[in-house]
Amino acid sequence: MSASHDRKFFDTFLLILGILVGIAIALIVVARIIAANTSAANRQGDPMYEQQVEARIHPFARNAVAGEDNAALAVPTAEPAAATDLPAETVFQQGCVACHGAGIAGAPKLGDKAAWAPRIAQGKDVLYQHALQGFQGKNGVMPAKGGRADFTDQSVMNAVDYMVAASQ
Ligand code: HEC
Repeated sequence: MSASHDRKFFDTFLLILGILVGIAIALIVVARIIAANTSAANRQGDPMYEQQVEARIHPFARNAVAGEDNAALAVPTAEPAAATDLPAETVFQQGCVACHGAGIAGAPKLGDKAAWAPRIAQGKDVLYQHALQGFQGKNGVMPAKGGRADFTDQSVMNAVDYMVAASQ
């Protein structure tokens, strides 16, 4: 009785074990088939892929060889972006509107004729100079170029012209 029980147990056990081994082998085979159809066929040998790998693993330092063409070693020089003269409204919106838009911190507001009249009376040269170099007035501090040192002088003068024209 007990011997036949054991036998039955072993038979079932071996059967399940066999099934599991079969599944494992099937998975390995399927994985290899998929890999053969994707990785090897689509990746290896693909010039674009190899170029990317090459870029990732190429040595950090390269040596110049005497007598050879070493042009590829030339260090690319980053050209600084040339400062260009910007149109008045662009400059105003980017650098002046924060204060002059609403008349913040004592700044004469764009279009406020009363606030601008005595300033305009000083003459354009004074206004340019104050806008470019900054100045401390009775009402507050006008930072040089509105704090935008990257603006060209001409850009700032354009903005001054714009504010003056809009406030006369
Ligand atoms: C941080 C705030 C601020 C910004 C940004 C700013 N200004 Fe001013 N600006 C002032 C203040 C404050 C005054 C008035 C100072 C005073 O008279 O006491 C002023 C005054 C001026 C005046 C009159 C100068 C004078 O002699 O009366 C001009 C012109 C001027 N700003 C141009 C500009 C231009 C152009 C820009 C943008 C490129 C600019 N400002 C950006 C605060 C600012």
